[in-house]
Amino acid sequence: MKIILNHKSNLTYQEIVNYYKEYKELDTKHDLIVCPTMCYLPIFKDVVLGSQDISPYKMGSYTGEVSGEALKSLGVKYVFINHSERKHLNNEPLELAKEKLIRAKEADLIPILCVGEEDGEDAVEVLTHDLNYLLKDLNIDNLYISYEPCYAIGSGNIPSKEKLVTVFNYLKENYNYPLLYGGSVSKDTIEQLKDIPYLEGVLLGKASLRIEDIKEFIKKL
Ligand code: PGA
Repeated sequence: MKIILNHKSNLTYQEIVNYYKEYKELDTKHDLIVCPTMCYLPIFKDVVLGSQDISPYKMGSYTGEVSGEALKSLGVKYVFINHSERKHLNNEPLELAKEKLIRAKEADLIPILCVGEEDGEDAVEVLTHDLNYLLKDLNIDNLYISYEPCYAIGSGNIPSKEKLVTVFNYLKENYNYPLLYGGSVSKDTIEQLKDIPYLEGVLLGKASLRIEDIKEFIKKL
């Protein structure tokens, strides 16, 4: 199973140096991808790396931006696009997410395209609208779709099995990309994700910050 560790904006330099040492000692058959705070990416140069974001611009005079070319040159393999925290906290519209998808493709980075509905919205309706717009005319072969209902992120709760089965069947039939799930995945909720059709991996936020928690999580798989 693919296990994507999204540190978000957590951990100090000293904490991440310690984390890295323990991370290197993890012994697992699962496919771990670490996505640290951007400035810590070079610390993880010798493991499979993902970036939490990418600039919508190519390399150039864009103060504060981190380009796809820069990420690629650090050995980054994956990149999140359209994560709900970027939408909510930075007001990033779908148009910007699409630019980022294009930059990821140009830089030969594999997008982890996050999509999910707000509480009360119809999941299939939102996913159809957002994915049709984001993927139109792009012809990206190598991409993961991560279903991340906004209300599940950081809440400790994941959607019902019935809902997940509906969404995953729908996504596979209509988009045919490998599928991930993110939103309150931990050792306490992983049981509820077993037997979801087409689920190839998960995204851990809070549960990715301590190596002990990752070990506990892996034991439950
Ligand atoms: P969480 O974050 O595991 O802390 O809910 C997941 C995510 O942002 O995808």
